[in-house]
Amino acid sequence: MYVLKKNIEISIIYDNNVEKKTMPQDVYDKVIMLAKRRGFIYPSFEIYGGVAGLYDYGPLGSQLKNNLENLWRYFYIYKDSCLEINTPTITLYDVLEASGHVDEFTDLTVDCEDCKLSFKVEDIIEDESSIQQAIKDETLICPTCGGKLINPHPVNLMFATKIGIGKTRDAFLRPETAQGIFTGFHLLYRYAREKLPFGVIQLGKGYRNEVSPRQGPIRMREFSMAEAEVFFDPNNKSHKNFSEVKDHILYLYDNESEFQLTMEDAVSKGVINNQALSYYMYLTQTILIQGGVDPKKFRFRKHADDELAHYAEECWDAELFSERFGWVECVGIADRSAYDINAHIEASKTDMYAMRRYESPKIVKHKKIVPKMNILGPKLKDKAGDIKAIIDEMEVTGQIENLTIPFEGEEYLIPKDAYDVVEVEEKEAGEKFIPHVIEPSYGIDRILYCILEHNYKEIEKENESYHLLSLPYQMAPIKTGVFPLIKDESLTCISEKIDKTLREHGISTSYDETGTIGRRYARMDEIGTPFCITVDHDTLDDKKVTMRNRDTREQERIDIDALPDFFKKQK
Ligand code: GLY
Repeated sequence: MYVLKKNIEISIIYDNNVEKKTMPQDVYDKVIMLAKRRGFIYPSFEIYGGVAGLYDYGPLGSQLKNNLENLWRYFYIYKDSCLEINTPTITLYDVLEASGHVDEFTDLTVDCEDCKLSFKVEDIIEDESSIQQAIKDETLICPTCGGKLINPHPVNLMFATKIGIGKTRDAFLRPETAQGIFTGFHLLYRYAREKLPFGVIQLGKGYRNEVSPRQGPIRMREFSMAEAEVFFDPNNKSHKNFSEVKDHILYLYDNESEFQLTMEDAVSKGVINNQALSYYMYLTQTILIQGGVDPKKFRFRKHADDELAHYAEECWDAELFSERFGWVECVGIADRSAYDINAHIEASKTDMYAMRRYESPKIVKHKKIVPKMNILGPKLKDKAGDIKAIIDEMEVTGQIENLTIPFEGEEYLIPKDAYDVVEVEEKEAGEKFIPHVIEPSYGIDRILYCILEHNYKEIEKENESYHLLSLPYQMAPIKTGVFPLIKDESLTCISEKIDKTLREHGISTSYDETGTIGRRYARMDEIGTPFCITVDHDTLDDKKVTMRNRDTREQERIDIDALPDFFKKQK
């Protein structure tokens, strides 16, 4: 037996102009319509028909995104002392082959016999393992044209490209920012003075050629990620800030029921494997709720063993509830263990080990091969230096029979009279090991959509209805409207001066002198502006303005000179 998923409704997707419908269907439609009308999100390349899974951030959307990313940076850089880097989005084939993405980063897909569209099996049927039976029974119907779905096959989600012209190297657009951090681990470890733990963060674009994205900004083909890779000694996955925050409650879901535990209890009861994971879950919960996520629509869900990514030992998703899509995975917090660094050591042969230092150095005896260059030099000529360097690095265990050295695709036999084996004593400062990685990985676009949805409100007032975004101050793209009560030069010139002064203090404003004051408030409410300043005729005498609060609609009089400080105190 298998359970088919409900067919996906295609017409309601943003790419194909929600506005054409006379009535929005649900809060998703309403939020998306508002987002487009007010300059948060636009479908990309719309004049050429648009492309599913590609979106522009408009002027307000870009500011909202900057605000979320800066809130994120604040926690990771200032609270957790992470280092921020930037690496290329074009990534060598070799990197993604070593990381397992070439083989593993796939979705099982079926094709429509008639219209030739492809669909993710996961979107069509509850349990992927029953797909063969469903195909045999011919019960799988194309959600677009009603044709028969056939040919289940894995499709790699990476966008392939080539670097260079003529003699090229194969590459992909990166599916995660993480690999750029892993491939530089040895340099970053040195930068961090060879001390663990330390974290490295990167914000930037990731790319996944999704089979059939139909979830607007929830499933994008080019998307913004904010990732932290925190490197730990596997013997010690504790966190220095844990004791300060251990009593905080985490909202958890184990695939059966929702429950709450303190961070400390979650670790001691073994619900969460280690302090580090628990700490990054706490950080994530704090950032999201501070960013405007409704705590009642937030939970951490533990991955079942059969859904873990190829690199993960344990993973918790921060899920946010959306009316249209249900619980949406927005952040994955994974214990990637030694998987990635080990893979890059093996594939690139680079020393990317960390060192566990002994309290005092140990003297160790071992055998070394010492090449006799007076014999090897004439025999190997220009290769002698390189081959000596390889021999110097070799560790000798047991008897040496035939010493052969691989170099540039050939094997060089080193005769017995061309080297000595000597016993040497060396000081060892410590033992090498492969660090483990805890990775909180945030899908910025999904979080932004959910923040918009969670803060979207419809206000009915005096036969008037309008929309309001109750964004937290830190997230609001515009912090205040600045209005002259009427368009009179004595008032506009003070208003313009206030507007200029606030901007010089780094406070984003929107100056507006058109329409009724009520209409101007409503325009600001709709984009989440927490305050509005009105200059009226009393201002000419008392040098005060009216400050209107978006959420309480209360008004107070404030000195013009006190305005910059008023905004700086907002949280
Ligand atoms: N780096 C985690 C992910 O790609 O989902």
